[in-house]
Amino acid sequence: VTGDRFDLAGRVAVITGGGGMLGREHAAALAECGATVVVTDVDESTARSAAEALGAPSAGAKAGAVHMDVADPASVAACRDAVLERWGGVHILVNNAALDPKVRSGSDGQELTRFEHFPLAQWEREMAVGLTGAFLCSQAFGSWMAEHGGGVILNIASDLSVIAPDQRLYRRDGVAEDEQPVKPVTYSVIKTGLVGLTRYLATFWAAKGVRVNALSPGGVFAGQPDAFVRRLTTLIPMGRMAERDEYRGAVQFLCSDASRYLTGQNVVMDGGRSVW
Ligand SMILES: NC(=O)c1ccc[n+]([C@@H]2O[C@H](COP(=O)([O-])OP(=O)(O)OC[C@H]3O[C@@H](n4cnc5c(N)ncnc54)[C@H](O)[C@@H]3O)[C@@H](O)[C@H]2O)c1
Repeated sequence: VTGDRFDLAGRVAVITGGGGMLGREHAAALAECGATVVVTDVDESTARSAAEALGAPSAGAKAGAVHMDVADPASVAACRDAVLERWGGVHILVNNAALDPKVRSGSDGQELTRFEHFPLAQWEREMAVGLTGAFLCSQAFGSWMAEHGGGVILNIASDLSVIAPDQRLYRRDGVAEDEQPVKPVTYSVIKTGLVGLTRYLATFWAAKGVRVNALSPGGVFAGQPDAFVRRLTTLIPMGRMAERDEYRGAVQFLCSDASRYLTGQNVVMDGGRSVW
C-alpha cells in the first residue's frame, strides 16, 4: 500500500447536526485527516462556531458552515446545491443529527416520556430528524456520490441499536412506578432503523463505490448525575463512560480508505457494554 490509508486530502465531508457535542468531534476527526469539512446544523450559529474551531472563515481554511434542517427536503436540497457550488463535490456524509433527550439533574423528566403516553407528535418529530433526515441526506448526497465515482456514508447510531434500553438507569427516587422516566421508544426505533438503512444502502450502492456503515457509540460522559453514571458504568465492562473524543479514531477509519473493504456493518464501540 502506498501513502496514508487515512488521508482524506481532496475529499469533502458533510456532517449533519455538526454543531452538537459529537458532531464537532466528527468534524475535528475528519479535518485531522485533511478533509474539507462542511459543518451543517439546523442551528446555524453552532455550525458556524464549530467551523470556526477548524479555522473558518479565514482564507485557506478547509472548513465551512451551511445551514441544513435534515427534516426538510427543501433545506437538504439547498444545502447540497450550496456544497456542490462552493466545494465542487461531496465524498463523505456523516448522518449524525438527532433530537435526543439528555439525562440531567434537576430536569423534571418530562423529556423521558413513557410509552403509554408517548405523544404521536413527539414520535413524528424525532423520527423526522433521526431517521427520515438520514434518508433524505443519503438520497441527496449519496446519489451524487453514486453518480461521481463513490464515497462514504456513516450513520451515527448507538449501542441501543443492538440492545434494549435498561430503563432502571433512568429511575428517580420518590417517583411513582408508572411515572418513572424512561428512554423514549423513538430512540430504539431510530437507531435500529439506521442499521437497516445502512445495510440497504450498502448493497444498493456497492457497485457504485458508495460504502455505507454505522457507528454505534456508547454513552459519552457529559456531567450526568452521579447516580445515573454509577448505575450505567456497572453495566460497562470497561467500567466507565466514553470521553467525547474517543470516537475520532473510528470515524477516521470508517470514512477513509483504511476501511475500504468494509460496508454494511454496524461498528459497536461501547466499552463492551453490549457483550456483557
Ligand atoms: N452523546 C452520547 O452519549 C451519544 C451516544 C450514542 C449515540 N449518540 C448519537 O450521536 C449523535 C450526536 O449526539 P450528541 O450527543 O452530539 O447530540 P447533540 O444534541 O449535542 O447534537 C445534535 C445536533 O443535531 C442538531 N439538530 C437537531 N435537529 C436537527 C435538524 N432537524 N436538522 C439538523 N440538525 C439538527 C442539533 O442542533 C445539535 O447540534 C446523535 O445521533 C446521538 O443519538 C450520542
